[in-house]
Amino acid sequence: MPLPSVRRRRSRPSLELPIHLDRARGHLAAQLTDALRAAILDGRLPSGARVPSTRALAEDLSVSRTVTAEAYTRLLSEGYLTSRPGSGTYVQALATLTETRHRAPGTPERNAAAERRSPPEVKPPVTAILGKDNKEWAAAWRHVARTQPPNRYLDPAGEPELREALCAYLLRSRGVRCDPGMVVITSGTQQSTDLLARALLRPGKPFAFEEPGDPAVFDTARVNNLYCVPVPVDGDGLRVTDLPTGPAAPRLVHVSPSHQFPLGHRMSVDRRIDLIRWAEAHGSVIIEDDYDSEFRYDGPPFPALVSLAPRRVAYLGTLSKVLTPALRCGYIVAEPELARATAQIKGQLDGPVSWPVQAAITHLIDSGGLERHIRRMRQHYARVRSILGEELACGQDIAHVTGLLAGLHAVVHPLRPIDIDQAVTRLHTLGAPVTSLADHYHASPPTPGLLIRYGGLSETEAARLAHQVIQAIRSAAT
Ligand SMILES: Cc1ncc(COP(=O)(O)O)c(C=O)c1O
Repeated sequence: MPLPSVRRRRSRPSLELPIHLDRARGHLAAQLTDALRAAILDGRLPSGARVPSTRALAEDLSVSRTVTAEAYTRLLSEGYLTSRPGSGTYVQALATLTETRHRAPGTPERNAAAERRSPPEVKPPVTAILGKDNKEWAAAWRHVARTQPPNRYLDPAGEPELREALCAYLLRSRGVRCDPGMVVITSGTQQSTDLLARALLRPGKPFAFEEPGDPAVFDTARVNNLYCVPVPVDGDGLRVTDLPTGPAAPRLVHVSPSHQFPLGHRMSVDRRIDLIRWAEAHGSVIIEDDYDSEFRYDGPPFPALVSLAPRRVAYLGTLSKVLTPALRCGYIVAEPELARATAQIKGQLDGPVSWPVQAAITHLIDSGGLERHIRRMRQHYARVRSILGEELACGQDIAHVTGLLAGLHAVVHPLRPIDIDQAVTRLHTLGAPVTSLADHYHASPPTPGLLIRYGGLSETEAARLAHQVIQAIRSAAT
């Protein structure tokens, strides 16, 4: 059946694109958003093109105006469209993705940055968020207790039922399309990163990551004797122009595009495209650490980077934020060859994740319990982070706050010189879940700041934490 295309009208801008909306599937606004986004990314809707009004497009597609308005609002918030008051809505000026590929040859063997950083002495505070409301959790474990465990060694990639359940969950929650052959169940993001590093890099080869970033990633580089390439981030995410090119280009780059860890920025669309183009040009793989996108308080998260370039991006998810880090369970989604290679290494290192853990998570996903739990947790943390934001604003004369857009942590940046170690020590004696931002820098001189984690806190505890932080910053002023 030919696709109905949007008709041209002389008096107003029109899309000459075949847009097929499958009414039987429902979610028309989401389908339209995806179709327009794809057209912008592959250049069929060129930069600067004016798009029809929501009313005109609704008429052309025979859908309600709510559908077109919702799609435009989403694309405006993602940065694919821009609106000019009194003039209309336009495609944002973006680079498009191209398909250039070549491999980077050999690379240097050692670097000072890898040697400068010593391992952290203490693990940062744990962000357990199960709370008292653990109905779904209890039901899952009752189900496991009633089930006969398998009398065999398991597939190192993970049980097929869990991989299947995760594919359906990722499609619903993140729009990520994958099949079970692309999924590997791991004991968390830290192991996922380690497996990818082992699969793709040999000792001495370069491995790029965000600066500041996640100390667990620095640890992975160190234990695998990799050549560390810390790459600065700014408000748009990792500075792609600072990535080495040519023979020194790293084959693996770790990023947290949905909510940069720790600073909290969201990687802009342009930066995403630049990063994918860089990876395609150098035959490199991007690790997308999507550790907390379930906790987005101002609407759905940006589409995952992996949806833009499934062959270039290995997507990492974890149960540590939505359930508890004590569970030790996460997953990799990668193209099938890379998924097989990482599963094989997992089999050689420690074997599959234990059956009861896999069975409990499968039950949580299949019963809808995980998503119900996440919805409740999201509501709870939306309230907690508002209180935290309001109370921290009482100290706006001495500090400003970033990263409250999403997730379960924020960064407080003092506006005047302070003795940050003194502030951290004081806060630790009060039991506050705070670390120095300096712990998240690998090589470059750190910007002073405090990282506060509010996973596991009630509203009252969050208000108290904010007061303690402001007080500690005031007292540590030099
Ligand atoms: C940036 C980042 N990625 C991933 C995780 C989760 O790691 P894991 O799954 O190994 O517990 C965390 C936990 O705090 C994190 O901060």
